[in-house]
Amino acid sequence: MTRPPADGPPAAPAPDAAPRAGSGRAAVTVRVPAKVNVQLAVGGARPDGFHDLANVFLAVGLYDEVTAAADDTLRITATGPDVDRIPLDRTNLAARAAGLLAARHGIAPGVHLHIAKDIPVAGGMAGGSADAAAALVACDALWGTGATREELLEICAELGSDVPFSLVGGAALGQGRGELLTALPTGGTFHWVFAVADGGLSTPAVYREFDRLNEGTDIPAPQAAPGLLEALRTGDAAALAATVSNDLQPAALSLRPSLAATLEAGGAAGALASLVSGSGPTTAFLAADRQAAEDVARALSASGTCRSVRVAVSPVPGARVL
Ligand code: C5P
Repeated sequence: MTRPPADGPPAAPAPDAAPRAGSGRAAVTVRVPAKVNVQLAVGGARPDGFHDLANVFLAVGLYDEVTAAADDTLRITATGPDVDRIPLDRTNLAARAAGLLAARHGIAPGVHLHIAKDIPVAGGMAGGSADAAAALVACDALWGTGATREELLEICAELGSDVPFSLVGGAALGQGRGELLTALPTGGTFHWVFAVADGGLSTPAVYREFDRLNEGTDIPAPQAAPGLLEALRTGDAAALAATVSNDLQPAALSLRPSLAATLEAGGAAGALASLVSGSGPTTAFLAADRQAAEDVARALSASGTCRSVRVAVSPVPGARVL
């Protein structure tokens, strides 16, 4: 499905309001992965409304592609499942990424961003964050702005807590609200199955439900689990399965009780671990190897407890120009 840009005034200033930059390329395409959180330890709400996290991200091989093409104004189009649920105006995180980069470099953000979506929309797999990171890398290459890695990471952090990880990929511990990253060593490949649910879940709503469920309790400061980091380092899927955790899972299940049946179906099919991906509603299943992942995927498809099923490996690199 292709959607035209939303009605309304263009997000860009008049084309001659600021100088145009250019790398000489007509278009740049960037591929960017989804993420799963193998540990999502959530602290109490901070005065700014965010929660301190110990967030262990793994980039997984489900990808969106963002193409930036020279244009007079900033406009966005998108293709793929559920793109009718993403905004195509200046509120789209990818448009905001282009706008922030252009503003820092004093140029007009003239660009057509096309998002080819494959990451589930509002699924707890950082699809919107991925598009923002990809748009940033694509515009930097298209406009020849030559932003440093540090500057790109700064803009990413301004855009959202998960956006810096979409840029770097691999495996990382996110602290603060998730934006302060430390790369983590990993050994080997982990095999995953993802069950895509009907409809999305709002991340703020899931955090609000977390607050409601934990009201009056003393929430400890979030910390990465040493056993989990060791399992990642050695590439031991069984050890990783024994240590995965997601503090947002009770909140996601409270808002979407039907996810319990999906988790159960994956477990019954032989998944080593079953968990909600981030704030959900996508559920993630860790398998022992590729064959086991395919078996779990088949069983989940037949279970009737989810809309679609995807198999993917991790870790994979972050946003990259194709
Ligand atoms: O950073 P991002 O815009 O992705 O966050 C979306 C929402 O998720 C925030 O507005 C906040 O409600 C919630 N959130 C949080 N603590 C975090 C990250 C996100 O409460 N560490």
